[in-house]
Amino acid sequence: MIDLRSDTITRPSAAMRRAMAEAEVGDDVFGDDPTVRRLEERFAGLFGKAAAVFVPSGTMANQLAIRAQTEPGDEVIAHAESHVVHYESGAPAALSGVTLRFADGPRGTFGAEAVRALVRPRDTHYGPTALVTVENTHNRGGGRVWPIEQLRAVREECLRLGVRMHLDGARIWNAHVASGVSLAEYGSLTDTVSACFSKGLGAPVGSALAGDERTIARARRFRKMFGGGMRQAGVLAAACLHALDHHVERLAEDHAKARALADRLARVPGVTIDPAQVETNLVYFEVDPRFGGADTVCARLGAAGVAVLSEGPHRVRAVTHLDVAADEVERAGEVMARALA
Ligand SMILES: Cc1ncc(COP(=O)(O)O)c(C=O)c1O
Repeated sequence: MIDLRSDTITRPSAAMRRAMAEAEVGDDVFGDDPTVRRLEERFAGLFGKAAAVFVPSGTMANQLAIRAQTEPGDEVIAHAESHVVHYESGAPAALSGVTLRFADGPRGTFGAEAVRALVRPRDTHYGPTALVTVENTHNRGGGRVWPIEQLRAVREECLRLGVRMHLDGARIWNAHVASGVSLAEYGSLTDTVSACFSKGLGAPVGSALAGDERTIARARRFRKMFGGGMRQAGVLAAACLHALDHHVERLAEDHAKARALADRLARVPGVTIDPAQVETNLVYFEVDPRFGGADTVCARLGAAGVAVLSEGPHRVRAVTHLDVAADEVERAGEVMARALA
């Protein structure tokens, strides 16, 4: 089986496992784990932030960002197609008591004018808008990299209106490698930034949230409250440090594999995809209704030896990652073309 369901399916390499085995550890809830501290300091530094907190998942990082920067009854602006809206189990309502207000725009992005239109005026009728979240790269937007000028404009509007901003950078590494924009610049355009080590970077577990001291201190308290305080987590942080050292720049290979797959799929009758829109490692395509829907297509491709995910009635997602070589992705393209012929 060539598994293209997600970049989360990667397994730690032998070198990563060695780094984990050799990690110096302590009780991180007491602040005693030197490897976790090293990762947090490095992560904060990469994004030009004062502090960072290590967490088990991207979902927890996003939810801590929301909880730490809002009060119950506040409103949070997010693109309607974003991960916090679709895939975090209703957590903004359940954990932070906030309402979400949806921004719209092409492929997971929106502009300063959307922020201007959606931020509530100061009036007791409204829940105050406390936070704008952006997702880069955008998952359901097909791995879209936010144009940097657009991100700057959104940031300026948030500053003008006095609204904080969070960047869900689960795949910010991919955005950085694809665009050449530095992580520090991305960090400078937001109050908090989260990123995952467990996706394209190939670590088994782990994400982090960076921001100013006060916000991260609050996030640390809520991490404990939400059950995310970990003990000898240095074994996990060591995998993340190894990933930072060895697995960031190589993401360009995953992007090239994704583009090659998109080019191949574009030649399959009944498949709709614009390869020019495949900027990073996520390949979304539409299948003609005559195939019987995305679930049927996924089952057919799975039976032929390629695992992909159904993401809508006729929408399918394939993801390239560390654990599939270029020739395997090429083979997957041929298998998919044959299975859909
Ligand atoms: C954009 C984005 N944000 C957040 C997450 C959440 O990460 P986790 O699965 O570690 O909770 C994901 C997971 O796929 C994601 O794609």
